[in-house]
Amino acid sequence: MNSPYTKQETYIKEFSPIDYFNTYYAPGKGLLFGEWTDFVLKNLHETFTSGVKGDLLIDFGAGPTIYHLLSACEVFNNIITSDFLEQNRAQLEKWLRKDPDALDWTHIVKYVCELESNSDNLERKEEILRRKVTKVLKCDALAKKPYDPVPMPEADCLISCLCLEAPCRDLEDFTNTLKKFQELLEPGGHIIIQSVLNCTFYYVGNKWFSCLFLTKDDLEKAFKEAGYEIVKVKVTPRNDKSRMDISDYDSFYFVHARKPKNQ
Ligand SMILES: C[S@@+](CC[C@H](N)C(=O)[O-])C[C@H]1O[C@@H](n2cnc3c(N)ncnc32)[C@H](O)[C@@H]1O
Repeated sequence: MNSPYTKQETYIKEFSPIDYFNTYYAPGKGLLFGEWTDFVLKNLHETFTSGVKGDLLIDFGAGPTIYHLLSACEVFNNIITSDFLEQNRAQLEKWLRKDPDALDWTHIVKYVCELESNSDNLERKEEILRRKVTKVLKCDALAKKPYDPVPMPEADCLISCLCLEAPCRDLEDFTNTLKKFQELLEPGGHIIIQSVLNCTFYYVGNKWFSCLFLTKDDLEKAFKEAGYEIVKVKVTPRNDKSRMDISDYDSFYFVHARKPKNQ
């Protein structure tokens, strides 16, 4: 069966960062604000307060979002963030330069500060993140080298949230993309991928986008085939099924793996 697949041209023409923020992260109404943000932010907080740290972190496929960097910025000296779309990178740049029109992530910054027991220091947190993000680059999961032609230093950690299921057409694409990430990592480097399982689509405003349907077994198979040592896999079911018409995922996943030291 050929499932419908959203082409890259459609992303370029139809993905609106503002609609994305409003559909998924807006306080009170965003579909992902709540179950997903609790899951992902707690996982990142736990990981980055239990010894995963270093000089450089690469963030792959950020979209217009920064929520997933709020714990990492405490334990990495430099962060390179990236997305495929120019309109998403423009939103990231706006937030970094404190443009009055930038997306407002205050509700999420507050949540992370509370996790860190530092709830009165929102401005300090935003300033640290702004200082640590040194580059906003174009990335393409489907290219032979995702950051070509920019030469990339090897990172201590690569993270990616809700991204790879967008460009990858099948499990083979997904596995190949994970393999390409090995070249971006130091031997022993960490890779942390978080996203959704058993999902076929998501809406951004009124635009439909495909999502690669992955099971937990697919995920573990892909990481092993791509040559990683799996440290931890967590899957949590979606409890709130009230808005399956916006996106039909049934659970969230977290994978923490490492590039072998001898590679
Ligand atoms: C569902 S959004 C995820 C955004 C964000 N990471 C988050 O956690 O909300 C999917 C992202 O995949 C990106 N994308 C689409 N095609 C891509 C490609 N070929 N390479 C890398 N990213 C791509 C889109 O630009 C978009 O930002």
